[in-house]
Amino acid sequence: MFSRIRALVLGLGVIVLLLGTGLAQSPHYKVGSAPSEEQLKTWSITILPDGTGLPEGKGTAAEGKDVYDRRCSECHGNKAQGADSSALIGGQGSLAGPKPLKTVTSYWPYATTMWDYVNRAMPFDTPGILTNDQIYAVVAYVLFLDGIVEENQELNRETLPKIQMPNRDGFVKDDRPDVGPTAHTPNR
Ligand code: HEC
Repeated sequence: MFSRIRALVLGLGVIVLLLGTGLAQSPHYKVGSAPSEEQLKTWSITILPDGTGLPEGKGTAAEGKDVYDRRCSECHGNKAQGADSSALIGGQGSLAGPKPLKTVTSYWPYATTMWDYVNRAMPFDTPGILTNDQIYAVVAYVLFLDGIVEENQELNRETLPKIQMPNRDGFVKDDRPDVGPTAHTPNR
């Protein structure tokens, strides 16, 4: 028994030693570089539901159609109805029924979240290529396709947070003290 424990301790010691030398010798590939302040500024954007953090810029649905057709329709369908990737519109009023269709326009409580999401992650294959104006415009176009904004209604950092999304009241405030001031959970 004693010798087994000793063997185990010895074995562990050897493993720790090996790991130690491995770490000490981990190679330097000399790739990559530290991001500049300027790059960090463009990536490090967090937009809250109330619009805090939204940058300057503006766009209308009329302007966004072109962006959408070139950058989004291939995956989300020519009218945002869904293709290889999910539908962005449709499903309003379906959430409480037997076949809920969760889309940006039927489910998301805030339009500002779409700005943040597109800015971070879309187009899926080349995120980061859109300008702020193009993002305001393409968000306007998707909302326009589901009747939430007018074709020539300008979206900017003041007007976007005021858009009343259809499911705004479909969530209850999550008031547990540790989850922060803006957390909500679905109301069904
Ligand atoms: C190459 C395909 C592709 C392109 C192009 C693309 N998307 Fe997407 N999009 C996706 C995929 C895949 C997802 C789901 C990602 C996930 O769940 O992680 C997604 C998710 C989304 C969502 C979240 C939908 C939800 O209900 O969760 C939004 C909003 C969105 N895309 C908007 C856009 C917009 C606007 C554009 C054009 C600027 C765009 N996408 C271009 C593939 C694409």
